[in-house]
Amino acid sequence: MIEKIQEAAVYLQQQYSDKPNIGIVLGSGLGTFAKQIEVEKEIDYSQIPHFPISTVKGHQGKLIFGKLEGKQVVAMSGRFHTYEGYAADEVIFPIRVMKLLGVQYVLISNAAGAMNSRFNIGDIMFIKDHVSFFVPNPLIGKNVDALGPRFPDMSEPYSKQLLAKARAIADKQQITVREGVYISVTGPTFETKAEYNLLLACGGDAVGMSTVQECIAARHMGMEVFAMSVITDIGIMEVEKVITHEEVLEAANAAEPKLASIFRDLVAAI
Ligand code: HPA
Repeated sequence: MIEKIQEAAVYLQQQYSDKPNIGIVLGSGLGTFAKQIEVEKEIDYSQIPHFPISTVKGHQGKLIFGKLEGKQVVAMSGRFHTYEGYAADEVIFPIRVMKLLGVQYVLISNAAGAMNSRFNIGDIMFIKDHVSFFVPNPLIGKNVDALGPRFPDMSEPYSKQLLAKARAIADKQQITVREGVYISVTGPTFETKAEYNLLLACGGDAVGMSTVQECIAARHMGMEVFAMSVITDIGIMEVEKVITHEEVLEAANAAEPKLASIFRDLVAAI
């Protein structure tokens, strides 16, 4: 396992020698943020040894290296999901590669459905904690000791200091943000009413099909994580209404400028 991660990292270092300190993962309908990066190198996933390839609509498949607010960053435009058929260790492969490239901070975005009935479509939710039990834990299997411990602590999955910085930024930009617990599920089905109710009872404010495995992998390796969701549907409220992927993408696109400006200032503040 470690050899594959190293091979991918070595390949990327041959293509681009600067060391990014910040890694960015962009969610469904949220990829245009990458346009703010002064791109120095783009590499298709298909060219990187051992990299999975993204298949879902709204996701592109490339790594973008460049500068944002004077900081060296690497962004994933397109990520991997369990529902595409990837094993958990494939989903987190890019995060592990980022670590070997020198990344210490991981900033993640996603689209999510709300269980919290006070949330509205288009709201931004900073993730302060998560529930991982509905997806395979990516650390199951032989531990890669070179990356981190067998039993990693998860008392602070999302960095308190990054969260405090992001709160101050949202305040300054006068963007109202929510905070809450994100629960990940495998998808690809959206939840039934009974499932939304279960997830609410489990302490969740929002549900989505990504992020948690990436966060676990990053914490395993001692990286600091900040993540935020765009609320694209209020699953629990929509008695008559169906949820479609198109509507998720539309709501994500509409909220993206808010998310982008928070990310940009957060990168500047790191
Ligand atoms: N459920 C799961 N994933 C999602 C949702 C949802 O309601 N909305 C956007 N991603």
